[in-house]
Amino acid sequence: MSEEGGRVVISARGAAHIRAGHLWVYRSELRQVEAVGGSIVRVADARGRILGRALYSDRSEIALRLLTARDERVDRDWWQQRLRVAFERRAGLDGACEAYRLVYAEGDLLPSLIVDRYRDVLVIQTLAQATDARKDLFVELLVEAFAPRAIIERNDVRVRELEGLEMRAGMLYGADPGEVEIIQHGTRYRVLPLGGQKTGAFLDQRENHLAARRYARGRALDCFTFNGAFALNIAPACDNVLGLDISEEAVLGARRNAELNGARNVEFRVANVFDALREFETRGERFDTIVLDPPAFAKNRASLASAVRGYKEINLRALKLLATGGTLITCTCSYHVDESLFGEIVADAAADARRRVQIAERRMQSSDHPVLVGVPETLYLKCLVLRVID
Ligand SMILES: C[S@@+](CC[C@H](N)C(=O)[O-])C[C@H]1O[C@@H](n2cnc3c(N)ncnc32)[C@H](O)[C@@H]1O
Repeated sequence: MSEEGGRVVISARGAAHIRAGHLWVYRSELRQVEAVGGSIVRVADARGRILGRALYSDRSEIALRLLTARDERVDRDWWQQRLRVAFERRAGLDGACEAYRLVYAEGDLLPSLIVDRYRDVLVIQTLAQATDARKDLFVELLVEAFAPRAIIERNDVRVRELEGLEMRAGMLYGADPGEVEIIQHGTRYRVLPLGGQKTGAFLDQRENHLAARRYARGRALDCFTFNGAFALNIAPACDNVLGLDISEEAVLGARRNAELNGARNVEFRVANVFDALREFETRGERFDTIVLDPPAFAKNRASLASAVRGYKEINLRALKLLATGGTLITCTCSYHVDESLFGEIVADAAADARRRVQIAERRMQSSDHPVLVGVPETLYLKCLVLRVID
């Protein structure tokens, strides 16, 4: 691992991008490289003016990720300090919830590094060559800061392939904790950090789970429920809730979480939401509250058109199923579907469903996934709370 590993000169366009607040420089903007992949480099513009220090990758299209705009040494103390600031930003969450994102990569000025906390178990993702090369250091610093029971790596994510890094999941510290029980704003869950979806739970929806409680009532449907989080959060406000997920494992987990919380008005079923919504419509069923939280339909720009069709279909069907006065809580976690496109999809769906719809609230990912101004890629989760008024 090289601490200070060279120098990269970038084009005027690359420099303008950085000066405008972005942290990334694309490979096409590199002009001169004296560095090896995985090192931390000094970045300069064509006139030799230093723009800061960055993580360098010799494979990814994102060749540089800026760490600091200062010409400062990025050593152990530097990392420790930057991590500490990210941890302190979450201090207010302690007590209310036991699982949250401690480090949100670019959003926390710690590009390509993610750390999630599940009580005394930490999960780490190092998504670029240079953070991957410093994994041991991060483990050391996390042990010092939290004395965790275990640290798991969930580096089994496809983006690593773009960096020429292997996909892997396993223990970095301590023994496999198996299932971990957590309490989030009063709701209990069992999560599997080493084997579950994401790093065990969808922490980015935590605050939307809470918000949904304020709107939900009557007969409710939670589509794409995973471990039942929306369903369990809205259950106290509803007569009954039906949660649907295509994954049998997810549904088994959701049922166990319902038991754990003593929730008796919640039922979970394995189903394809696309089919289920169609069947409810055929049978003329009605709901007062519907949650739509699908997986990212648009993984990249190429799949955007089919993703838009998918989002439109589920939103259209859900709007048709809602009783007048009912609420739709609808989400997209596709970065490529931005706020404005999502608004258009919902408007199209409302028009085709012949429903009049108000926006009650515009929401996004939880506050422990902070959006960095100037880096639009840090905003990926959009959530609209809609009221059907006619
Ligand atoms: C974004 S996650 C849901 C997270 C969850 N709502 C929460 O708040 O924790 C998407 C879920 O959709 C499920 N899924 C994917 N395609 C589906 C489909 N066609 N029908 C039903 N569930 C599906 C996945 O198994 C996954 O659990």
